[in-house]
Amino acid sequence: AAECFALGLLAGRHVLINAGPTREAIDPVRYISNYSSGKMGFALAEAAAEAGARVTLVAGPVNLTTPPRVERIDVVSARDMLAACEMALPADVFIASAAVADYRPAEAADAKLKKDPGSDSGMQLELVRNPDILATLAAHAQRPWCVGFAAETHDVLSYARDKLQRKNLDLIIANDVSQPDIGFNSDDNSVTLIDRSLHQQHLPQASKSKLAREIIHLIAGYLPAQPE
Ligand code: CTP
Ligand code: CA
Repeated sequence: AAECFALGLLAGRHVLINAGPTREAIDPVRYISNYSSGKMGFALAEAAAEAGARVTLVAGPVNLTTPPRVERIDVVSARDMLAACEMALPADVFIASAAVADYRPAEAADAKLKKDPGSDSGMQLELVRNPDILATLAAHAQRPWCVGFAAETHDVLSYARDKLQRKNLDLIIANDVSQPDIGFNSDDNSVTLIDRSLHQQHLPQASKSKLAREIIHLIAGYLPAQPE
Protein backbone atom coordinates (compact mmCIF):
# COMPACT_ATOMS: atom_id res chain seq x y z
CA ALA A 1 0.00 0.00 0.00
CA ALA A 2 2.85 2.42 0.82
CA GLU A 3 4.17 2.05 -2.75
CA CYS A 4 0.81 2.97 -4.28
CA PHE A 5 0.85 6.16 -2.24
CA ALA A 6 4.38 6.90 -3.41
CA LEU A 7 3.17 6.49 -6.99
CA GLY A 8 0.68 9.31 -6.43
CA LEU A 9 -2.70 7.62 -6.73
CA LEU A 10 -4.36 11.05 -6.56
CA ALA A 11 -1.76 13.13 -8.40
CA GLY A 12 -3.42 15.97 -10.30
CA ARG A 13 -6.64 15.71 -8.27
CA HIS A 14 -8.17 18.32 -5.97
CA VAL A 15 -9.73 16.74 -2.89
CA LEU A 16 -12.03 18.87 -0.70
CA ILE A 17 -12.68 17.58 2.83
CA ASN A 18 -14.67 19.09 5.67
CA ALA A 19 -14.08 17.99 9.25
CA GLY A 20 -14.93 18.53 12.88
CA PRO A 21 -18.04 19.94 14.50
CA THR A 22 -19.72 23.25 13.74
CA ARG A 23 -20.62 25.76 16.44
CA GLU A 24 -23.89 27.65 16.36
CA ALA A 25 -23.98 30.80 18.45
CA ILE A 26 -26.70 31.38 21.04
CA ASP A 27 -25.15 34.63 22.28
CA PRO A 28 -21.56 35.99 22.41
CA VAL A 29 -20.52 33.45 25.08
CA ARG A 30 -22.64 30.34 24.32
CA TYR A 31 -23.14 27.90 21.49
CA ILE A 32 -24.64 24.58 20.36
CA SER A 33 -22.20 21.96 19.09
CA ASN A 34 -21.34 18.24 19.28
CA TYR A 35 -18.51 15.91 20.34
CA SER A 36 -16.87 15.44 16.92
CA SER A 37 -13.06 15.51 17.25
CA GLY A 38 -12.30 15.96 13.54
CA LYS A 39 -9.75 13.13 13.69
CA MET A 40 -11.22 11.06 10.84
CA GLY A 41 -11.36 14.06 8.48
CA PHE A 42 -7.81 15.16 9.33
CA ALA A 43 -6.58 11.58 8.79
CA LEU A 44 -8.32 11.55 5.39
CA ALA A 45 -6.72 14.89 4.48
CA GLU A 46 -3.30 13.55 5.43
CA ALA A 47 -3.82 10.35 3.43
CA ALA A 48 -5.10 12.25 0.36
CA ALA A 49 -2.07 14.57 0.45
CA GLU A 50 0.25 11.55 0.77
CA ALA A 51 -1.46 10.10 -2.30
CA GLY A 52 -0.45 13.22 -4.23
CA ALA A 53 -3.70 15.21 -4.22
CA ARG A 54 -4.03 18.93 -3.69
CA VAL A 55 -6.09 18.97 -0.50
CA THR A 56 -8.38 21.67 0.87
CA LEU A 57 -9.51 20.97 4.43
CA VAL A 58 -12.39 23.07 5.75
CA ALA A 59 -12.28 22.62 9.52
CA GLY A 60 -14.69 23.48 12.29
CA PRO A 61 -13.30 24.20 15.78
CA VAL A 62 -10.90 21.31 16.54
CA ASN A 63 -7.67 20.77 18.44
CA LEU A 64 -5.59 19.16 15.72
CA THR A 65 -2.50 20.11 13.76
CA THR A 66 -2.77 20.61 10.02
CA PRO A 67 -1.24 17.70 8.05
CA PRO A 68 1.71 18.56 5.77
CA ARG A 69 0.87 20.04 2.34
CA VAL A 70 -2.80 20.53 3.26
CA GLU A 71 -4.50 23.90 2.80
CA ARG A 72 -6.69 24.42 5.86
CA ILE A 73 -9.57 26.88 6.11
CA ASP A 74 -11.01 27.38 9.61
CA VAL A 75 -14.71 28.05 10.05
CA VAL A 76 -17.16 28.13 12.95
CA SER A 77 -20.77 27.74 11.86
CA ALA A 78 -22.48 25.44 9.35
CA ARG A 79 -23.30 28.40 7.12
CA ASP A 80 -19.62 29.49 7.12
CA MET A 81 -18.59 25.91 6.37
CA LEU A 82 -20.95 25.73 3.38
CA ALA A 83 -19.62 29.05 2.00
CA ALA A 84 -15.99 27.91 2.40
CA CYS A 85 -16.70 24.58 0.68
CA GLU A 86 -18.45 26.27 -2.25
CA MET A 87 -15.54 28.73 -2.55
CA ALA A 88 -13.10 25.81 -2.79
CA LEU A 89 -14.82 24.34 -5.88
CA PRO A 90 -14.07 22.96 -8.38
CA ALA A 91 -12.85 19.74 -6.77
CA ASP A 92 -12.62 16.19 -8.08
CA VAL A 93 -13.78 14.71 -4.79
CA PHE A 94 -15.68 16.06 -1.78
CA ILE A 95 -15.48 14.06 1.45
CA ALA A 96 -18.02 15.30 4.00
CA SER A 97 -16.66 14.08 7.32
CA ALA A 98 -17.85 17.11 9.30
CA ALA A 99 -20.46 16.69 12.02
CA VAL A 100 -22.55 19.63 10.87
CA ALA A 101 -25.04 20.90 13.45
CA ASP A 102 -28.48 20.14 12.02
CA TYR A 103 -30.03 23.18 13.71
CA ARG A 104 -28.95 26.61 14.87
CA PRO A 105 -30.61 29.18 17.13
CA ALA A 106 -33.11 31.18 15.07
CA GLU A 107 -31.18 34.28 16.07
CA ALA A 108 -27.92 34.78 17.93
CA ALA A 109 -28.35 37.43 20.63
CA ASP A 110 -25.97 40.43 20.35
CA ALA A 111 -25.48 40.58 24.10
CA LYS A 112 -25.14 37.87 26.75
CA LEU A 113 -28.55 36.48 27.67
CA LYS A 114 -29.49 37.07 31.31
CA LYS A 115 -31.76 35.05 33.56
CA ASP A 116 -34.91 36.73 34.76
CA PRO A 117 -34.04 37.45 38.44
CA GLY A 118 -37.73 37.47 39.35
CA SER A 119 -38.49 33.88 38.28
CA ASP A 120 -37.05 30.37 38.31
CA SER A 121 -38.75 29.22 35.12
CA GLY A 122 -36.98 27.50 32.24
CA MET A 123 -36.39 28.95 28.82
CA GLN A 124 -37.28 28.12 25.22
CA LEU A 125 -34.69 28.34 22.49
CA GLU A 126 -36.03 28.43 18.95
CA LEU A 127 -33.94 26.45 16.48
CA VAL A 128 -34.00 26.53 12.67
CA ARG A 129 -32.55 24.04 10.18
CA ASN A 130 -29.03 24.52 8.88
CA PRO A 131 -28.28 24.05 5.19
CA ASP A 132 -27.16 20.56 4.14
CA ILE A 133 -23.59 21.09 2.91
CA LEU A 134 -23.23 17.67 1.32
CA ALA A 135 -26.60 17.70 -0.46
CA THR A 136 -25.83 21.24 -1.71
CA LEU A 137 -22.48 20.21 -3.20
CA ALA A 138 -23.98 17.00 -4.64
CA ALA A 139 -26.52 19.17 -6.52
CA HIS A 140 -24.00 21.86 -7.49
CA ALA A 141 -23.25 22.88 -11.10
CA GLN A 142 -19.60 22.01 -10.34
CA ARG A 143 -20.51 18.74 -8.65
CA PRO A 144 -17.51 16.82 -7.27
CA TRP A 145 -17.55 13.03 -6.73
CA CYS A 146 -19.37 13.02 -3.37
CA VAL A 147 -18.60 10.96 -0.29
CA GLY A 148 -20.74 11.19 2.84
CA PHE A 149 -20.47 9.79 6.34
CA ALA A 150 -23.38 8.33 8.26
CA ALA A 151 -22.81 8.17 12.00
CA GLU A 152 -25.62 6.09 13.44
CA THR A 153 -26.40 4.32 16.71
CA HIS A 154 -28.92 1.81 15.27
CA ASP A 155 -30.05 0.43 11.88
CA VAL A 156 -26.68 1.73 10.68
CA LEU A 157 -26.61 0.31 7.14
CA SER A 158 -30.23 1.03 6.26
CA TYR A 159 -29.96 4.66 7.38
CA ALA A 160 -26.68 4.94 5.47
CA ARG A 161 -28.31 3.63 2.26
CA ASP A 162 -31.16 6.14 2.74
CA LYS A 163 -28.66 9.02 2.99
CA LEU A 164 -26.70 7.79 -0.05
CA GLN A 165 -29.86 7.89 -2.15
CA ARG A 166 -31.55 10.94 -0.63
CA LYS A 167 -28.45 13.13 -1.00
CA ASN A 168 -27.49 11.63 -4.38
CA LEU A 169 -24.01 10.53 -3.25
CA ASP A 170 -21.40 8.36 -4.96
CA LEU A 171 -20.29 6.70 -1.73
CA ILE A 172 -21.35 6.65 1.90
CA ILE A 173 -19.20 5.59 4.83
CA ALA A 174 -21.32 4.10 7.59
CA ASN A 175 -20.08 4.40 11.12
CA ASP A 176 -21.64 2.69 14.16
CA VAL A 177 -21.22 5.27 16.92
CA SER A 178 -23.02 3.18 19.56
CA GLN A 179 -19.80 1.26 20.26
CA PRO A 180 -17.74 3.17 22.84
CA ASP A 181 -14.25 2.34 21.48
CA ILE A 182 -14.82 3.50 17.89
CA GLY A 183 -16.15 6.49 16.02
CA PHE A 184 -16.81 10.05 17.05
CA ASN A 185 -14.17 10.94 19.60
CA SER A 186 -11.87 7.90 19.64
CA ASP A 187 -8.60 7.06 17.83
CA ASP A 188 -9.98 3.91 16.22
CA ASN A 189 -12.84 3.42 13.85
CA SER A 190 -14.56 0.66 11.89
CA VAL A 191 -16.69 1.50 8.86
CA THR A 192 -18.71 0.03 6.01
CA LEU A 193 -18.53 1.67 2.58
CA ILE A 194 -21.64 1.56 0.39
CA ASP A 195 -21.43 2.75 -3.22
CA ARG A 196 -24.12 3.84 -5.71
CA SER A 197 -24.73 0.27 -6.87
CA LEU A 198 -25.19 -0.65 -3.15
CA HIS A 199 -22.01 -2.71 -3.16
CA GLN A 200 -20.84 -2.96 0.47
CA GLN A 201 -17.34 -3.21 1.84
CA HIS A 202 -16.55 -3.55 5.55
CA LEU A 203 -13.27 -2.22 6.94
CA PRO A 204 -12.64 -3.76 10.37
CA GLN A 205 -11.54 -1.79 13.42
CA ALA A 206 -8.21 -0.03 12.93
CA SER A 207 -6.59 3.31 13.67
CA LYS A 208 -8.18 6.27 11.90
CA SER A 209 -4.94 6.86 9.95
CA LYS A 210 -4.85 3.26 8.65
CA LEU A 211 -8.55 3.39 7.74
CA ALA A 212 -8.09 6.77 6.08
CA ARG A 213 -5.42 5.31 3.77
CA GLU A 214 -7.69 2.40 2.88
CA ILE A 215 -10.63 4.73 2.22
CA ILE A 216 -8.52 7.09 0.05
CA HIS A 217 -7.21 4.08 -1.87
CA LEU A 218 -10.75 2.81 -2.53
CA ILE A 219 -12.03 6.28 -3.52
CA ALA A 220 -9.14 6.69 -5.98
CA GLY A 221 -10.21 3.43 -7.62
CA TYR A 222 -13.72 4.76 -8.25
CA LEU A 223 -12.74 8.05 -9.89
CA PRO A 224 -13.21 8.43 -13.62
CA ALA A 225 -9.90 8.57 -15.49
CA GLN A 226 -8.46 12.06 -15.86
CA PRO A 227 -8.32 13.63 -19.30
CA GLU A 228 -4.77 13.47 -20.73
N1 CTP B 1 -24.27 16.81 6.42
C1 CTP B 1 -24.09 18.05 5.82
N2 CTP B 1 -24.82 19.12 6.23
C2 CTP B 1 -25.75 18.98 7.21
C3 CTP B 1 -25.95 17.72 7.85
C4 CTP B 1 -25.19 16.65 7.42
O1 CTP B 1 -23.25 18.17 4.92
N3 CTP B 1 -26.46 20.05 7.59
C5 CTP B 1 -23.47 15.66 5.94
C6 CTP B 1 -22.50 15.11 6.97
O2 CTP B 1 -21.26 15.76 6.85
C7 CTP B 1 -22.43 13.64 6.56
C8 CTP B 1 -23.80 13.36 5.97
O3 CTP B 1 -24.36 14.62 5.63
O4 CTP B 1 -21.47 13.42 5.55
C9 CTP B 1 -24.73 12.63 6.89
O5 CTP B 1 -24.82 13.34 8.11
P1 CTP B 1 -25.77 12.81 9.25
O6 CTP B 1 -25.77 13.76 10.39
O7 CTP B 1 -25.46 11.37 9.49
O8 CTP B 1 -27.17 12.85 8.48
P2 CTP B 1 -28.33 13.90 8.42
O9 CTP B 1 -28.66 14.04 6.96
O10 CTP B 1 -28.01 15.14 9.15
O11 CTP B 1 -29.52 13.13 9.13
P3 CTP B 1 -29.73 12.79 10.71
O12 CTP B 1 -28.76 13.61 11.51
O13 CTP B 1 -31.16 13.14 10.94
O14 CTP B 1 -29.45 11.31 10.81
CA1 CA C 1 -27.21 15.25 11.29
